[in-house]
Amino acid sequence: PPEPTLVASVLPADFAQLGAELQTLEKAGVDRVQWDVMDGRFVPNMTIGPDVIAATRGHVTMGFEAHLMVADPDPMLHRWVEAGCELLIVHAEAVTHLHRTLARIRELGARTGVALNPATPLTAVEHVWDIVDLLLVMTVNPGFGGQSYLASMEPKLAAARAEIDRRGLDVELEVDGGIGPATIGAAARAGATTFCVGTALFTGPGTLADRAADLRKAAA
Ligand code: DX5
Repeated sequence: PPEPTLVASVLPADFAQLGAELQTLEKAGVDRVQWDVMDGRFVPNMTIGPDVIAATRGHVTMGFEAHLMVADPDPMLHRWVEAGCELLIVHAEAVTHLHRTLARIRELGARTGVALNPATPLTAVEHVWDIVDLLLVMTVNPGFGGQSYLASMEPKLAAARAEIDRRGLDVELEVDGGIGPATIGAAARAGATTFCVGTALFTGPGTLADRAADLRKAAA
């Protein structure tokens, strides 16, 4: 299997010193950062906007992905790219015209991601595989960090892995929500190759670098 990709969710980071937190993450060897963007409508929580992401862009060189947990993301797609995100993940449940939204993200020069909430079937992306660079299978209901991993999503992960491999697609299969030492192995065995981790990176034994290394080992 390919080397696991470790993505740090900034949700549990100290928002009072985000630049320094990102530098710590970079030094700890995470592969890229996930900005959990929440608008208080698509999910019952609010976090950060493009200006906060832009403010941190110059502090680190690692990649930024924007997980847009927002209703109707189309009007602001360019803002996340201008802020320094090279991968935009939209929720299939939040857009009316998913094919057009993904095409727009590609036009902006960014990679496309589609996130599926736990109740959303894999068939939501059946007709857009050709313009999807990453599929994000949520293993919690979005809106908060620190929730428990939904093992019931493993069949969906396995089906996604089977479909990606059957079609010979170059699509990253990412999992997000409750991923930690106790759950990352099962998610990897189900077929995920990219792991978004929040709480289990920021809290736990040892240093952040130790936890990142342990997670990589457990996912391999
Ligand atoms: C849910 C968020 C969280 C976050 C990771 O809306 O997307 O899943 O990224 O949180 P942990 O790793 O703490 O579950």
